[in-house]
Amino acid sequence: MSEKMEKRQTMYLRKKHIGPSCKIFFSHDPIKMVRAKGQYMFDETGRRYLDCINNVAHVGHCHPDVVRAGAEQMELLNTNSRFLHDNLVLYAQRLQATLPDRLSVCYFVNSGSEANDLALRLAWQYTGHKDIITLENAYHGHVSSLIDISPYKHHQLSDAERNQSVHVAPSPDVYRGKYRADHADTATAYANEVKDMIDRVHDKGGKIAAVMAESLQSCGGQVIPPVGYFQQVAEHVRKAGGVFIADEVQVGFGRVGTHFWAFQLQGEDFVPDIVTMGKPIGNGHPMSCVVTTVEVAQAFTSSGMEYFNTFGGNPVSCAIGLAVLDVIVKEDLQSNALRVGQYLSRLLEKQRSKHPLVGDVRGCGLFVGLELVRDRVKLTPATAEAQEVIYKLKEQQILLSADGPHRNVLKFKPPMCFTTEDADLVVEKIDHILTGTLSAALSRALLSRCERAGSHCLLLQSSSKL
Ligand SMILES: Cc1ncc(COP(=O)(O)O)c(C=O)c1O
Repeated sequence: MSEKMEKRQTMYLRKKHIGPSCKIFFSHDPIKMVRAKGQYMFDETGRRYLDCINNVAHVGHCHPDVVRAGAEQMELLNTNSRFLHDNLVLYAQRLQATLPDRLSVCYFVNSGSEANDLALRLAWQYTGHKDIITLENAYHGHVSSLIDISPYKHHQLSDAERNQSVHVAPSPDVYRGKYRADHADTATAYANEVKDMIDRVHDKGGKIAAVMAESLQSCGGQVIPPVGYFQQVAEHVRKAGGVFIADEVQVGFGRVGTHFWAFQLQGEDFVPDIVTMGKPIGNGHPMSCVVTTVEVAQAFTSSGMEYFNTFGGNPVSCAIGLAVLDVIVKEDLQSNALRVGQYLSRLLEKQRSKHPLVGDVRGCGLFVGLELVRDRVKLTPATAEAQEVIYKLKEQQILLSADGPHRNVLKFKPPMCFTTEDADLVVEKIDHILTGTLSAALSRALLSRCERAGSHCLLLQSSSKL
C-alpha cells in the first residue's frame, strides 16, 4: 500500500540520485521501511522490526496525538515567528517549566546542528572570546562550525586542517578513558584536564568562549560522565570568562528516567548557561531549540543583528512540540524509561556475567550501552563481533546499532514506549548470538594457539568468519 515502486527500483534511484556519502544501514541488504507504529517499523513485505535505536520517535513512531496536532494546525495556519502566535509562546512556557529558572529564553530552530551552531554564536557574542573546548569523540552536528568541534568526525582531518581555536579534552569515560573506575576521583581528574587545557590556551594568548559537552555522549560510545564533573568544568570555564553549553540533542526529554534533562544527573547544583535540544523534541518533525539565560540573550541582541529563522518556531512545529510534551506526561513515559531501562540494564548485566565478550554495561533509563571487548584487562575492542551482533539481530528483525570510537558499543536508545517484553526479546537474541559468537571466537583463539604450536588441529575446520 505504502510502496510506490519495487525495492530494486528504489535502490537503483537512490544510487543514482542520492549523494553516496549519505550512508544506509545494512548496505549489502538495506531495509525498505514503509510504515511504523510505537516501537515497531514495518518493511514493504509487512515484516515487523523492533526498533531499539530510534530516539527521534521519542513517544513512539507516528503517535496519533502528535500526528493529529500537526495535521490540525497545518489545516489552519503555518507561518513564521514574525507574527504573534499562541503556540510559540505556550510551547516556550511549557518547555521552560521543565528547566531550571535561569534558563528562560528560547530560540527555535530546525535541527540539532542548527541549535548547536546558534549556541556557539551566542557564546561568542556573550563572551567576546573565540576558543572552544570540546570532548574527545564528541559529535555535535554536520555544519562546518560543528565538524570543527566534533572529534567523532574530524579525527580524519590533519592537524593543519583543524580549527586552531578548538581544543579537545579527554572524554570522561570511566571504562576506557584516561581515568577509570579504580581512580579515587574521576570527576576532578577529568575536570582538571579541562582546567589545564584552559591554562594552555591562555598561555598562547587565546580566550575561552565555551565548553560544549553532550550531557551523555552517544556517538562517542554511550558515555556517562562521573557526577560532579560538569560542575567543576563549569567553574573552570566561567572563571575563564566562558560559558557551559549542554547538548541534549540525543538524551533530553525524560529519556534518562530519573530526570527530564540528562545534565540534571550531575546534581541540582548544576545549571548550564546554554542548553540545546533536537531529535526527540518533535517526534520526527524537524524542530529544535536553544534555551539560555536572559544575560546571554541580551548580549546576543546587543550586536544589533536580527535573528530570523524561516521555519523555527512555526505554529505547526510548536503544536507538535506541545503534543509530544502532553504524551510524555499522559503516558508517564519518563517513569517507563526508568523502569524499563533499569530492567534492560539488569538483563544486560546478567549477560556480562555469562559472556566474557561483554566488558561493560552502562546507562541511565532508556539510554544504555553494552561494550564488547575481546579482553577484559586490555579492553581490546570487539569491533567485528559487535557488527556480527547487529547483523544477526537485523536478520531476526531487531534494529540496534554499534558506535563509539571503536564501533564496539551496542547502543540502546529506543522509543520511550519500549516494554519489558521488548527488553526480554532483544536480550534473549543477544544471548543466543553471543553464545554462538563466543564459541566461534574461542575456536579462533584455540586455532591460533594450535597454529603457533605447529600441531595438526581439528579446529581448523571450524574457524569463525568474525
Ligand atoms: C549529540 C548530538 N548533537 C547534535 C546532533 C546533530 O543533530 P542533527 O542531525 O539534527 O543536525 C546530533 C546528531 O546525531 C547529536 O547526536
